[in-house]
Amino acid sequence: MNNNATLDLMLQHRSIRRYQEKPVPPDVLDAVLRAAWRAPGSMNSQQVSLVVVQDAARRARIAEIAGNQAWVAQAPVFIAIVADQYKTSLGVAAGGAQQTVHSSVEGFATAAVDVGIVLGNLMTAAHAVGLGVVPIGGIRRDPQAMIDLLGLPKLTFPLVGLTLGYAAEEGCCKPRLPLASFAHAERYDAARLPQDIAEYDAVLCQHWQQIGRADGEAWSASLAAAYSRVYFPQVGPAARAQGFGFDGE
Ligand SMILES: Cc1cc2nc3c(=O)[nH]c(=O)nc-3n(C[C@H](O)[C@H](O)[C@H](O)COP(=O)(O)O)c2cc1C
Repeated sequence: MNNNATLDLMLQHRSIRRYQEKPVPPDVLDAVLRAAWRAPGSMNSQQVSLVVVQDAARRARIAEIAGNQAWVAQAPVFIAIVADQYKTSLGVAAGGAQQTVHSSVEGFATAAVDVGIVLGNLMTAAHAVGLGVVPIGGIRRDPQAMIDLLGLPKLTFPLVGLTLGYAAEEGCCKPRLPLASFAHAERYDAARLPQDIAEYDAVLCQHWQQIGRADGEAWSASLAAAYSRVYFPQVGPAARAQGFGFDGE
């Protein structure tokens, strides 16, 4: 399908890590928040809350918590996307029962899915109004510090954040693994993956060269460094301290 503005914006997505010193007007921010608010959610549970941070000192603190990610302090808006089974627990109580879903992997999985949908809506809406974004999973490096900073109640968890602002950098999109290794037809095709990965390693290295990133690695090398360990080990203990459990069904 050609000439579809929404599809074009989505195809042009790239993360922005340098921002202009230009504030996001309140009506623009409001439009982005409203688009995310309309996101669908499991069982209409509405188990996602946002905390919108614009104060410069608080953004600087979040940048630090996320492992000194300068772009978090630089972008004028940071939105923390919070899995919120506190709000639902109040709904359950108002309905005359006691919530237990937060004690299960299913509970955390469904909240994480809903958080991801809200993240996607925020990004698409931001692109549509001319803003640049980068999601920030780095806030899970020290979840308790985020919980304290944002004043989050029990049964909530800051899963991911998003910086928003006007881009101060140009660039090209990062290549992906082939579409066929992402969207499988009818049955999962495991056989093609080793070849796809080898080819993608070369494509990504070429991309790094093109954009002058001397530190750019092959996909398999960067994934080997990241996924051979639990890179944010505080997530489990912090989630348990917030009242989540993974021992139910
Ligand atoms: C859930 C999630 C968490 C992320 N966390 C970070 C982060 O903490 N810092 C960062 O600079 N980029 C982060 N990213 C951005 C990814 O690195 C980026 O999306 C990926 O490399 C693909 O590049 P692109 O977005 O430019 O296409 C995150 C992306 C997602 C979806």
